Amino acid sequence: MTNTNLVADLKKAVGKAAAERIKSNTIVGLGTGSTTVFAIQHLGERLKSGNLKNIVGIPTSFQSENLARECGIPLTTLNAVDHIDVAIDGADEVDPQKNLIKGGGAAHTQEKLVDSFAEYFIVVVDSSKVVEKLGSSFLLPVEVIPKAMKPVMLHLQKLGGKPEIRNAVKKDGPIITDQGNLVLDVKFDSLDNPEELEKTINNIPGVLNNGLFVGLADLVIVGELKDGQIVVREF
Ligand code: A5P
Repeated sequence: MTNTNLVADLKKAVGKAAAERIKSNTIVGLGTGSTTVFAIQHLGERLKSGNLKNIVGIPTSFQSENLARECGIPLTTLNAVDHIDVAIDGADEVDPQKNLIKGGGAAHTQEKLVDSFAEYFIVVVDSSKVVEKLGSSFLLPVEVIPKAMKPVMLHLQKLGGKPEIRNAVKKDGPIITDQGNLVLDVKFDSLDNPEELEKTINNIPGVLNNGLFVGLADLVIVGELKDGQIVVREF
């Protein structure tokens, strides 16, 4: 098995495991990214087979909205509901306290809206995402309105961060989020107080939201390789 295939298989295993936990007659938050894809596909399969009935999804991006439609999952919007039962979403880093860095796909603003509104939030990751300390390997994404790019960068530098504008692939210039904004990826030498930093960055005028998700996750499902077998563990 190549490493790429192995990672895809780990993502598939956790995506399916999370989708198996969804019960009929519920409102489900649908996260974004390559791991959540497998959860959405499995939800669609369960609906088609009749094993799951009457769910409605709330997507967190164009990606999850389009995929959910293709998979036959009925959709609604945040403004049309008074609660979300469960959200399933991926992450770029997870620490032992279940705090996360998200936003590798620039969808963290809508993801935080949906994931924080859910009564139960399940995170699905392969083992490479589990870290002792947030910021170990992944830069912190910050969504910024375009006009505020420079002042926000200066503000982040004052906080000890090194911000870089995220550039697009197959488009010249920066990536543009689903909301029409820019993303700064910020390197912090030490991310000692994620709870405080999440609030401080979100308080900078021009910032929409940052990728720290502190105290939101209820369950983390991790896919890993043990003795040559793919296993799924929870914490
Ligand atoms: C989207 O912006 C992100 O928050 C993703 O949920 C996160 O990057 C995990 O993505 P993968 O499942 O593709 O690793």
